Amino acid sequence: MAKLNWIKIYDNQTHGPEPQQRGSVRVININDKRFCLARTDQGYYAMDNRCPHAGAWLGEGWCEGQQVVCPVHRYKYNVENGRGAPGQGDFVETYPIKETEEGVFIGLKADPWWKIW
Ligand code: FES
Repeated sequence: MAKLNWIKIYDNQTHGPEPQQRGSVRVININDKRFCLARTDQGYYAMDNRCPHAGAWLGEGWCEGQQVVCPVHRYKYNVENGRGAPGQGDFVETYPIKETEEGVFIGLKADPWWKIW
């Protein structure tokens, strides 16, 4: 399995223990790539920000339970596995999240050396 770089999204010291409301989504920008960060009652989840339907920003949508709803045509994506709701036939990539005493982190694959050089 590819090595993950854990990048801090929220720092408990700086942002406090409740940096994002439950049931909300937002756009985060890491290394010039945007992600949709959702916080549900179950925890934090990260997925691609770009809606596969027509490119709207999922991070500007909202949460319904364990789904993020796209603000444009209201397609829905499961925060745990990225699957579109039945009938959509699409999905978004999801990314691992880790919560520690220090804060909330997103796990991104380290760039392979041949992409760096
Ligand atoms: S752009 Fe997201 S549902 Fe159409």
